[in-house]
Parts: sequence; C-alpha cells; structure tokens
Amino acid sequence: MEIVVSGIRSTGNLHLGNYFGAIRNFVKMQEKNQCFFFIADYHSLTTHPTPEDLHNNVKTALVEFLACGLNPEKATLYVQSDLPEVSELYLLLNMNAYLGELERCTSFKEKIRTQPKNVNAGLLTYPTLMAADIIIHKAHKVPVGKDQEQHLEMTRTFASRFNRMYKVNFFPEPVAYNFGEELEKIPGLDGSPKMSKSENENSAIFLADPPEVIRKKVMRAVSDTGPTKPNQLKSQPVKNLFQLMSAFSTPSTLKHFDDLYTRCEIRYGDMKKQLSEDIIAYTTPFREKIELLERDDIYLRKVAKMGAEKARASADKTIKEIRKIIGFKSF
Ligand code: ADP
Ligand code: TRP
Repeated sequence: MEIVVSGIRSTGNLHLGNYFGAIRNFVKMQEKNQCFFFIADYHSLTTHPTPEDLHNNVKTALVEFLACGLNPEKATLYVQSDLPEVSELYLLLNMNAYLGELERCTSFKEKIRTQPKNVNAGLLTYPTLMAADIIIHKAHKVPVGKDQEQHLEMTRTFASRFNRMYKVNFFPEPVAYNFGEELEKIPGLDGSPKMSKSENENSAIFLADPPEVIRKKVMRAVSDTGPTKPNQLKSQPVKNLFQLMSAFSTPSTLKHFDDLYTRCEIRYGDMKKQLSEDIIAYTTPFREKIELLERDDIYLRKVAKMGAEKARASADKTIKEIRKIIGFKSF
C-alpha cells in the first residue's frame, strides 16, 4: 500500500478553496492508501503567533479536518509538534542542506519581499522541515497544490542526497500527487481566479461562516456593469460568479442565469441571492459538525492522542534506522 503524507498550515479557518483543492482529496485518498495527515504547527511559528492563537488555530484545523470527513480510524491524523522525531530529522537534514539552494527557493524569496523585517532561519529552512515531515514516514505520494511543487522537488533532493551520502537505498523519492483534471479550482469573490485567505480575507468563504456572513460576502462580490450586447464575453469577476454557481448550484439554475446573461437580462443581485442560498445549503452540514466538534474537547483529545501514537510509531522506526545509518552508537 502506498504511503501518503500531507500537511496543512494551521493559520485559521478552512475556506471553500482549501476544501475543494485539498481536503476533499485527502478524504478520498484515506480509503485506498496509508495516509498521514497533519496540522503544520511548527511551520506556523515562522509568523510568531501568540500562545493562544497557536493553540486555537490547531484546534480549529483539527475540528475542521474532522468535520470535512477525515476519519481518524482510517487515516493517521496528528499535530506536527506531537512528533519530536520530526524536529530531530529536521536537524539532521539541515546539516546537508546548502544555503544557496535554500535561498533560491521561490517561497523564501517571496517572504524576503513581503516581510523584510522577519526573515528568520525558520523561513530559510522551511523546505527542510517540510522534507522531514514527508520522509519521516518514507512517503511515496504527497497531495499538494502547484505552489508546493518546488518544496517537493527539494524534498527529493534531500532524500536522494541522504541515500547517496550513506550509500543506502533508504528514502523513497516522493512525488506530488496532483489531482489534475479532477481538481476544481474555486475562484475568489474579489475577482481573482483563486480563492485565497492570505491574499484577501474577503475573497474567501469559510466552512464555518454563518449564513448571514455568507450572504453579505456574496452580495458584495465583485461583478461588472453587465452585458450590453447579446453573447458578450464575460469579465473575470463575472466568470467567477458563474464558476461558483457551477460548483454549488444545480445545472438548471446555472443555465437559467447563463441564458439571462446571454440575452443581456441578467440582474447580478438576483444571481448573487440565489448563489448565496446554494452555498449556504452546501456549507450548513459542515458548519453544524464544526459547532458540535468544537465543544467536544474529550473527543478531540482522544483523536489527537491516537494520531500522535500512530504517527510516532512510524516516525520512531525511521529515526532509529537513520541514527544507525549515520553512525550514532550508544556505549
Ligand atoms: P490561503 O492562501 O488561503 O492560505 P492556499 O491556497 O495557500 O490558501 O492553500 C492553503 C492550503 O491548502 C495549503 O496547505 C495548500 O497546500 C492547500 N492546497 C491549496 N490548493 C491545493 C490543491 N490544489 N491541492 C492540494 N492542496 C492544496
Ligand atoms: N508547506 C505546506 C503549505 O504551505 C504545508 C506543509 C508542511 C506540507 N509540511 C508539509 C504539505 C508536508 C505537504 C507535506 O501548504
């Protein structure tokens, strides 16, 4: 059985883009693979959260993972910082990770540009920590979005470098598991082609958003002044509204508004009203589960403990073997 590992940054609530882009695929993968899914809380320290925020974000991520259908009996669901083996492997990998290659990483260069006052060593070595997350379980596949492919390439470099250096065939070289055509990209409400919280908080609809918040966000979504001639090409923001409709409304609703657009009779206000009700119908079961789980600390503790135990059993085995390969011996 193939080993699948993926992590998700714990920076708050999941939005529809995260669900369609990542979590929904994790839910499918857990059926046929040995999956390890974790909440990347060590990684989140690069942004210096307060202790309360750190914990609350991990709890939110765990609750929402579960509400989305990740099953702790099938997949190993854990919190990264519950696995000290990861930080040991991170240290070991850093000894063979070179400044030049870390500095060339696109996400690092992006951080230098966007947060020049907080260019810490954690950001520089983000790819070695991510590699440690993945190879600690000797993963074969890593479901990630396009933005993570360079990190995965670096993971392969670190894994093969270790194999070469110690003349072993220990780590498999993990490949990105891309869902290709199946992947439905959810556009933003701000006219951008991808829903993203980090770009613009208001462009995203969160699974936990209450109905009135969803209505408000959708009604405020960017559109345009409307078509002036039949069959006019749609602007990007209007394309987004139709794309959202194709994801959340019925085909006949979509066709209804598309026909209105073609005939220049569309009123975006009506379209948005319909769209918000359809999104609310879609997210309500998620929100209800989130509300129940949030109050169930006993269950959450049980899930986290079980995940940590299963993940540690796998990580401990790898670390023991690595220590032996590297030459650590006890007297
Ligand atoms: P945001 O900008 O709102 O924080 P991102 O688009 O960066 O959201 O994605 C957040 C998380 O969801 C990341 O961990 C990312 O790897 C994951 N993700 C996003 N799109 C995909 C995808 N297509 N396949 C797998 N994971 C994805
Ligand atoms: N870097 C990933 C992101 O930004 C999160 C992550 C951390 C991850 N460790 C990982 C993803 C290991 C896959 C595997 O989304």
